[in-house]
Amino acid sequence: MCGIVGYVGNRQAFPILIEGLEKLEYRGYDSAGVCILKPGIAYGQTGSFEIVKSEGRVSRLKALAAEKDTSGTCGIAHTRWATHGDPCTANAHPHVSMSGSLAIVHNGIIENYQIIKEQLQKRGYVFMSETDTEVLVQLIDYYYKSNGHELVDAVRRALSRCFGAYAIAVVERENPGHIVVARKASPLVVGIGADTDEFFIASDATPMIEYTHSVVYLDDEQIADVRPGKDIFLTNLGGDKATVTVHEVDVDISMLSKGGYPHFMLKEIFEQPDCLRDCMRGRVILGDKEEDNRIVLSALNQCHDRLVNAKNIIIVACGTSWHAGLIGKQLIEQLCRRRVEVEYASEFRYRNPVIEADDVVIAISQSGETADTLAAIELAKQAGALVFGIVNVVGSSIARESDTGIYIHVGPELGVASTKAFTGQVAVLVMLALALGLELGTLDKKEYCRTITELAAIPDKMKKTLQTNDYIKDLAKIYTYASNSLYLGRGYNYPVALEGALKLKEISYIHAEGYPAAEMKHGPIALVDANMPIVFLATHHQLYQKIISNMREVLARNGRILAIVTEGDDEVKKIARDTIEVPPTLAMLAPLLSVLPLQMLAYHIAVLKGLDVDMPRNLAKSVTVE
Ligand code: AGP
Ligand code: GLU
Repeated sequence: MCGIVGYVGNRQAFPILIEGLEKLEYRGYDSAGVCILKPGIAYGQTGSFEIVKSEGRVSRLKALAAEKDTSGTCGIAHTRWATHGDPCTANAHPHVSMSGSLAIVHNGIIENYQIIKEQLQKRGYVFMSETDTEVLVQLIDYYYKSNGHELVDAVRRALSRCFGAYAIAVVERENPGHIVVARKASPLVVGIGADTDEFFIASDATPMIEYTHSVVYLDDEQIADVRPGKDIFLTNLGGDKATVTVHEVDVDISMLSKGGYPHFMLKEIFEQPDCLRDCMRGRVILGDKEEDNRIVLSALNQCHDRLVNAKNIIIVACGTSWHAGLIGKQLIEQLCRRRVEVEYASEFRYRNPVIEADDVVIAISQSGETADTLAAIELAKQAGALVFGIVNVVGSSIARESDTGIYIHVGPELGVASTKAFTGQVAVLVMLALALGLELGTLDKKEYCRTITELAAIPDKMKKTLQTNDYIKDLAKIYTYASNSLYLGRGYNYPVALEGALKLKEISYIHAEGYPAAEMKHGPIALVDANMPIVFLATHHQLYQKIISNMREVLARNGRILAIVTEGDDEVKKIARDTIEVPPTLAMLAPLLSVLPLQMLAYHIAVLKGLDVDMPRNLAKSVTVE
């Protein structure tokens, strides 16, 4: 999710806010906006908001603001990564309450915004945008008007009714001397100026480091009221006062431009546990008892009959998204007993394919702008098939062209080599196959519930897997010399082998080939010698012993094996030169863990080779041409 900045103190707010947004640009976004508070002219007269919003880059917002009076010492600003409502000026933040009293900026998702919106509409509230954020500011306004304009109390009562993720900053025009902030699951930092005569608000410390190193990291469900000359007033949602803990940030500003990581790719690799939580938020629901676990996908309700009655399911995608599609095929065939074809969109579009009106075509795309995938969708629509999009960028072309679909909600992916989008796509495909399988009666309830429990545990298991990063960084030194490599896997790990090979190719320029492990005997084994690293996906699953045999075949030819194994596996250690452990999980969830070491391996090899990890030669983040 994107960026929030706020300032209140004795300096002009606008330059601080705009520079803050520019420093948060690395978080990626689609639109931006700023609100400056103007005090009332006469004593006791209500002030006003000067609001400027624009699509696109911060530079465009800056140009628009140059024509406005942006003087003032208090303000809030936002870069948006759309989740609800297309990226456009009307949906950009800040959003103002209907009364005109309050303005808000928000990072995150209010999952139950629809029901709250309907309740507020019944009370006469009119909405100017499609966003969940505008619902939140109207709800705060509703309480604000009924409690004598107590802003902190109004924010508390409104947030107590909301589910989801939020980092918010709220201002009131009748009192331009303070900002109220709150957070849950989305990050928020308060910077304290000298002698608390000024406060800085931001999604991370980047925008405030040049002004102060004294910061307070809000915890989940905490609300802070910051007012120059006073200490931070910090409470929890229950209204109890909380202890303010001040940290001294001691980092170099240049590192902070990527959230503290040297490259976007490494940041996005390490974001995956949190991104998966965002992706599953409101969709993977754990009951008090396992039998009450459930998957909630609104897209399934929207096109229930056509999905349930689909004769054929065709997945169209490119690159990494195509690899996710291969996993989707196995998931849907195993859990839903429906035939699935997975097609390279670029081939599909020119093959005059057979598409029936009762088919479902699933288009998987991080960017939502890939030309070949868009063209494939066009064919599907001409044939009358249902187009189901699995996309990351809200409001992108593929999202708009799809009849329905599921956003993966992993936030902006800026590294050209896709990482968190892949695991987000796989997670969405798991949720879709589980929900559809239960619906079709091809998946028994107990396995459905048990799988959901394990799926919900994956982010923590990802976090544990990422702890092998330093070990892999060391291991990468050995593999940096390679000019070729083979990645081998079976079952759910076969597409992971393809994905691992693609990662290595696209950022280290070492040729790598992913193959079904058993297929190696039909030719590629001729390549095996002591100089060629062979990466095996050898986690403990139904084809484990077969993989062991394949590894022995490679070992017999002096192959140098690196194996991704399940924690505690001692058998593979006797065969492989190097092993990387991942926690145990179900076969169908294995890709969410076994891909992580391959992402880290490719990253460290590319860094050791001194290559541009985030922008590899010849590549683009979104291939919008044929
Ligand atoms: C993956 O690391 C590459 N960046 C590339 O293969 C990418 O997956 C492909 O171009 C598809 O992009 P999309 O998901 O945005 O459609
Ligand atoms: N859900 C909000 C919106 O779509 C905020 C998105 C963000 O975090 O930028 O406007």
